[in-house]
Amino acid sequence: MRREMSQIIKIFDTTLRDGEQSPGASMNMEEKIQIALQLEKLGVDIIEAGFAAASPGDFEAIENVSKIITKSTVCSLARAVSRDIEAAGKAIREAKYKRIHTFIATSPIHMKYKLKMEPGEVIKRAVEAVEFAKTFTDDVEFSCEDAGRSEISFLKEILDAVIEAGATTLNIPDTVGYRLPHEMGALIKELHNFVEDRAILSVHCHNDLGLAVANSIASIENGARQVECTINGLGERAGNAAMEEIVMILKTRRDYFGGLDTHIVTKEIMPTSKLVASITGIHPQPNKAIVGKNAFAHESGIHQDGVLKHQETYEIIKPEDIGLYNAENIVLGKLSGRHAFKEKIESLGFRLSDEELDQSFKRFKLLADKKKEIFDDDLRAIITDEIVKAKEIYKLVNLQINDCMSGMPSAALIIDKEGEEIKDAGIGNGAIDAIFKTIDRISTISGELIEYKVSSVTEGKDALAKVTVKVIFDESKPAVTGHGLNIDTMIASARAYISALNSHLATKDFKNRRDRGGI
Ligand code: KIV
Ligand code: ZN
Repeated sequence: MRREMSQIIKIFDTTLRDGEQSPGASMNMEEKIQIALQLEKLGVDIIEAGFAAASPGDFEAIENVSKIITKSTVCSLARAVSRDIEAAGKAIREAKYKRIHTFIATSPIHMKYKLKMEPGEVIKRAVEAVEFAKTFTDDVEFSCEDAGRSEISFLKEILDAVIEAGATTLNIPDTVGYRLPHEMGALIKELHNFVEDRAILSVHCHNDLGLAVANSIASIENGARQVECTINGLGERAGNAAMEEIVMILKTRRDYFGGLDTHIVTKEIMPTSKLVASITGIHPQPNKAIVGKNAFAHESGIHQDGVLKHQETYEIIKPEDIGLYNAENIVLGKLSGRHAFKEKIESLGFRLSDEELDQSFKRFKLLADKKKEIFDDDLRAIITDEIVKAKEIYKLVNLQINDCMSGMPSAALIIDKEGEEIKDAGIGNGAIDAIFKTIDRISTISGELIEYKVSSVTEGKDALAKVTVKVIFDESKPAVTGHGLNIDTMIASARAYISALNSHLATKDFKNRRDRGGI
């Protein structure tokens, strides 16, 4: 089947909302801003920047993303309740292009057990929500949560009502990733025939059975003109449809999908994927399509020989089309100047203030003294470590580990607390335990370590170690994440724990601020 007329498939990116719902992917505001800027550069049509009513942090992040994004539409999610819609409307107020995305569940199981509402009440609530959202912006999207398990007659009824109320985009989520591609295609076909051009039909597919991308593509084939997706397929449970896969399927199989296009600048796919991975600490599996580390690696001799003779023997995508350039991977060295550094940082997707650039440049120079080759991944790690951290109340000044082999490991630390140096030492069940316990004593805040992860940023004996920790400092709150970076794993661990502590304290400060007259 070849379509002649060119049509745009809108890319609705929900990395900052559904993606953030991946366990362990929570991002702070600065991190969200860096990702939003890169999503705009990537060319996404709509950025779902968060769920404004979920927390003051979400609200503020959406508000700030709205102020800086000028090309993409900025969207906030809102349940079909007035409090949520009002928060969404306020959060996106300053966006150049703004959208409210409101939703309510439509499947019998959700209506009966979760909402405890009759179908008629659900329709009424949906209509009220859309009408209220229209008072903030003309661009209103309505989602039938769990549409994949909803009755089609009910879907038509509610869609009819929300179109009448002013919804401009109708989203059909396969919330639990239940549908098979031919079933999803058939559902979209029938709804497309029903809706016609009264609104844009969208899909939002989850990956519980590994079919999110296949279901999104089947939907596009049957009339969906917007797909909701995330970078690297992040998202609730098994994740959402991976944007890079959808986009590259349409591009690579233009022979089949001819006429269907996106606004995505595909050369920005790899930088975006890497940025999201370095910020969230969640890296795509090595064999992940398009952006996995091995997606363009040819291991077998026969394949290597074939690719050397003619690239297309074993490659259907040119690596450079997604922004993968081997030659540029080793980037800077000790003698590189600030200008080259700035350009490189921008090509990796970061936008830094002069002060952040100075700080990062200093960190780069220090690293370049210790490490011969500085790779893109090293720079990403430095920048994420340098700029996206919470305000530093505590800073590591010095660390000494003793007696690891004697069965009595101990750690001596000097920590700066807002200008005052505090010294202490302690023992533990290992060097890391000793470090964390000593930090607890210095701060007088005791943390429960629930996850500790160490990875090397690049390869080689002089590779940077990146440590990620999740710590609960207050039982009534979710765990906070901290990252630490250094060639020495012990120092990276201490930094990670201190960064989690700073995030915990920053959230507390922030809450106090908002409690006085916030949303
Ligand atoms: O999966 C889902 O149904 C959602 C909606 C809120 C769109 O994320
Ligand atoms: Zn979802």
